[in-house]
Amino acid sequence: MQFGYFDDEAREYVITRPDTPLPWINYLGCEDYFGIISNTAGGYSFYKDARLRRLTRYRYNNAPLDSGGRYIYLRDDDAPASPFWSPTWQPTRTPLDEYECRHGMGYTTIQSTRLGIKANTRYFIPLGANLEIWQLTLTNQRPEAANLSIFATVEFCLWDAMDDATNFQRNYSVGEVEVVDGVIYHKTEYRERRDHFAFFTCSEKLSSFDTDREAFLGPYRGWESPRGVERGSLRNSIAHGWQPIGAMHVKVALQPGEGRTVIFLLGYQENPLGEKFDPPGTQTINKHTVVPVIRRFLQPVEVSAVFNDLREHWRGLLGKLQVHTPDIHTDRMVNIWNVCQLMSTFNFSRSASYFESGIGRGMGFRDSNQDLLGFVHLMPEQARQRILDLAATQLPTGGAYHQYQPLTKRGNNEVGSGFNDDPLWLVLSVAAYIQETGKWDILDELVPYDNAPGTEENLYAHLQRSMQYTLDRLGPHDLPLIGRADWNDCLNLNCFSSSPGQSFQTTTNKDGKVAESVFIAGLFILAAQMMIQITLRRAGDQEAQVYCQAIDHMEKAVWAAGWDGNWFRRAYDDSGEPVGSSTCKDGQIFIEPQGICIMAGLGIADGKARQALDSVAERLATPHGIMLHQPGYTQYYLNLGEISSYPPGYKENGSVFCHTNPWIMIAEAMVGNGARAHDYYLRINPSRREEISDVHRCEPYVYAQMIAGREAPTHGEAKNSWLTGTAAWNYLAVTQWILGIRPEFDGLRIDPCIPPEWDDFSVERIFRGCRLNITVRNPQHVSRGVTRVTVDGVKIEGSLVKLEALSGAHQVEVWLGG
Ligand code: GLC
Ligand code: GLC
Repeated sequence: MQFGYFDDEAREYVITRPDTPLPWINYLGCEDYFGIISNTAGGYSFYKDARLRRLTRYRYNNAPLDSGGRYIYLRDDDAPASPFWSPTWQPTRTPLDEYECRHGMGYTTIQSTRLGIKANTRYFIPLGANLEIWQLTLTNQRPEAANLSIFATVEFCLWDAMDDATNFQRNYSVGEVEVVDGVIYHKTEYRERRDHFAFFTCSEKLSSFDTDREAFLGPYRGWESPRGVERGSLRNSIAHGWQPIGAMHVKVALQPGEGRTVIFLLGYQENPLGEKFDPPGTQTINKHTVVPVIRRFLQPVEVSAVFNDLREHWRGLLGKLQVHTPDIHTDRMVNIWNVCQLMSTFNFSRSASYFESGIGRGMGFRDSNQDLLGFVHLMPEQARQRILDLAATQLPTGGAYHQYQPLTKRGNNEVGSGFNDDPLWLVLSVAAYIQETGKWDILDELVPYDNAPGTEENLYAHLQRSMQYTLDRLGPHDLPLIGRADWNDCLNLNCFSSSPGQSFQTTTNKDGKVAESVFIAGLFILAAQMMIQITLRRAGDQEAQVYCQAIDHMEKAVWAAGWDGNWFRRAYDDSGEPVGSSTCKDGQIFIEPQGICIMAGLGIADGKARQALDSVAERLATPHGIMLHQPGYTQYYLNLGEISSYPPGYKENGSVFCHTNPWIMIAEAMVGNGARAHDYYLRINPSRREEISDVHRCEPYVYAQMIAGREAPTHGEAKNSWLTGTAAWNYLAVTQWILGIRPEFDGLRIDPCIPPEWDDFSVERIFRGCRLNITVRNPQHVSRGVTRVTVDGVKIEGSLVKLEALSGAHQVEVWLGG
C-alpha cells in the first residue's frame, strides 16, 4: 500500500493523503537556520543547535502524533457557523476535498482545497538568511466572492529546548514579547544574557493578533479548536510569562477566481552586544538590524528570487554525481533522495528528527566522521571544516569525546570518551577527503586537542595518535580493548549495570582490561591501510613499515582468536568468553565483523570471506534486510549491556540495523558477487519498499536506522528514519563499490561489480574539477572485470583514471568482460 508517489522529474515525493502511518518529514535549511516539517506542517525550527537555540515548540510522543507546527487556519467569515479548517490538515484535521504534500529539496509545499478555497503553502529557508518563509497562496474557486480570515501561528520555545520542557517553575515567569508595526518579537531572556530574539510577521496588515497562548486558544482548549479562530478575531494579547506564542490574523476578500499570496516570516536575529536596546537604557529591542531583513523578504519578487536560488543550489549539489542504471530505485536514491539525506546527516548528525528530540545528542564523533564519507564530494570545503572541528575535540591520548554540541563545538563532558573505535573513524574521513579532493595540505593544518589553545599539532599527528590509541589498548588476545562500546553503542562489555536508569554508555563497573572487540581490529586494519598510503606519500617508507607490521600483528590476532570456523567472532567479554560464536546460546553470529573485516581485506584470498558471507546469507539475511545478529538476546545479560535490553528483533538486539547492511554489500562486491550486493541494496532501499508503506511505515524516500528483525512481531517495520549512518554507507556501497566509481589517492578508480544481467550504465561525476561522463558496457554479462578503459577515445592502462593533466569535460568509456 502506498501513500504517495515519486515525482522524479520535479525531484519531489508527493504525499496524497495526510494520514500517513507516521509523520513523513522533510528538512528545511542549508546553513545555520533549520527546521523539520511534516506532511501536515508539524515540526519546529532552530538556529544552529536544536537544543540550545530552539525557536518553536514541538511535542514528541504526543497524542495525536506530530503536535506543534507551522499552523495556519482558514475561516469563512461569511459563514461563521461553518467550521474553520487547517489547509495543511493538522491541527484541526477537518476533511479536505483535495490534499497533496510535496517534499522537495529544502522545501515543502502543502496544497489543499476545501469548499472551493484552494490553499497552497510553500515553506522554505532562503540561503544566506536566518528565517523561514511560508508563502501562502489562496485561490477562490467558488462562483461567488469569499471573505476569509487567515490565522498563522507558532508556539515559541524559550531557547534551550531541554530547559523549556522541564523547568516550568521558572519558565512560566520569564516569557516576554513585543509587538511593533505588525511584527511579533519573542524576546524571552533578552533582558539578561541573550543577544538574540525571534520574529514572526507577514506581508499583510494584521487585523488582530495574540501572543499569549491561553488568550488565543481559550481555557482548556487545544490547537485543534482555538477560541480566537472560532470567534474570528484575536485579543491583541501581550504575553507575560506562561506560554508566549505568535498568532497573526489577516483578512482577505477574494472575487471568484481570484488568487492572493500572503508571505509569513519566522526568523532569528542577533544584535551586537552594545546595541541590544533602542533607545539605549531601555528594555526595548533595537530593531534597526532586523527591519531591513523583514522588508526584503516580504517582497514577492524577492521571495521568488530566493526560492530560485535555493533550487539552483540543490541542482548544483545533485549534479555532482548522477547515475543512469537499469534500476529505477538505484537511480532515484542516488540521484535525489540519498543526497538529500546526506545533507541532513551532515547538518544534524543524530540530533534533530522526528525520532531524535534535538535535546539528547549533539554531533557524534563516530557518526559525523562516517557521514563525511558520503558527503565529502558534495561540499568539500564544509567537509574539511567539519574534519578540523572534529579533530579539535580529540584528546591528547588519541581518544575522542563521543559527542560535541554544534553551537559550542566543544566535547560533551556528560558522555565523555572511551568508545574505543571513535578515533579510527577520523582516519577514514580524512582519507576520504584527500581521495576526493587531492588536497594533501589538510594534513598540515594545525589543530588543538580538546580545544585547548597551545596544544596544536598538525592533523597528521592527530591521525597518528588515533592509531596509537588502539595499539596502546590491546587485550589478552592482542585484540583491541572495547572500552565503553565500539560501533555498536549497546555492546557494553564493561558496564555490568544492575540499577535501572543508569546509562549503559557511561556506567563502567569493570577495569576494561579484558573485553575486546574484533570489530575494532577490522576497523584498525582498514585505517592502517589508509595510513600506509598516506605515509608513503608523506613521511616515507619507514613509517609505512610501522603500519604494515601493525596490520600483520592485528591480522594474526584476528585469525587466532577472531575466527569462529564459519564467520568472524564479534568480541570477547569481561570473562574472556567469546561473543558472536557458535558456542553462544544467543548472539551466535554478528554482521559487523563480517562487514568490517572483509572490507579490510581479510579472508578474500583464501575463501574465508566467502564463507563468512555465506553464513550471513544463511543466518542473517531476511527479505527486509540483514539482521545485526542471531539469535537475538532472549534475556538481559549483565555482561553484555544495552544490546540485551531491547526485545529481540528491535534496535541493537537483532533488528535490521540498516547502517551495517552496506558493509555486507561492499564485502560482496569485493568478493565479486554483484548480484547479491545489489539484491541486498534493494531490500532496504526505501523506494523499493514504497509499495509496502503500510508495513515499512517510515518515509519511502529516506533510509531508516532500523527495520524490525525476524524475531520481532512487527518484522519489516522501520523506525528512526533520516539521521543514520545508513545514508553515507549506502551511498558509498552503491556508487563506489557496486557501480564502482571510487576515488583513490591517485585518481578515480572504475571497477564496477554489478548484477550480471545489466547491459550497461552511465555516470556523470564531478571529480577534482573535471566533469567525467562515464559509460560502462557489459556485453558479456559479467559482474566484474574491467577489460578496457578509454579517456576521450584513448586507451589507458588499468582502471584508474588519473587526472593531473586534465580539466573540463571528458568521456570515459569502460568495457567489462571475462
Ligand atoms: C546509532 C549511533 C551510532 C552507533 C549505532 C549503533 O546510530 O548514532 O553511533 O554506531 O547507533 O549502535
Ligand atoms: C545508539 C543506539 C541506541 C542507544 C544509544 C545510546 O545510538 O542506536 O539504541 O540507546 O546509542 O546513546
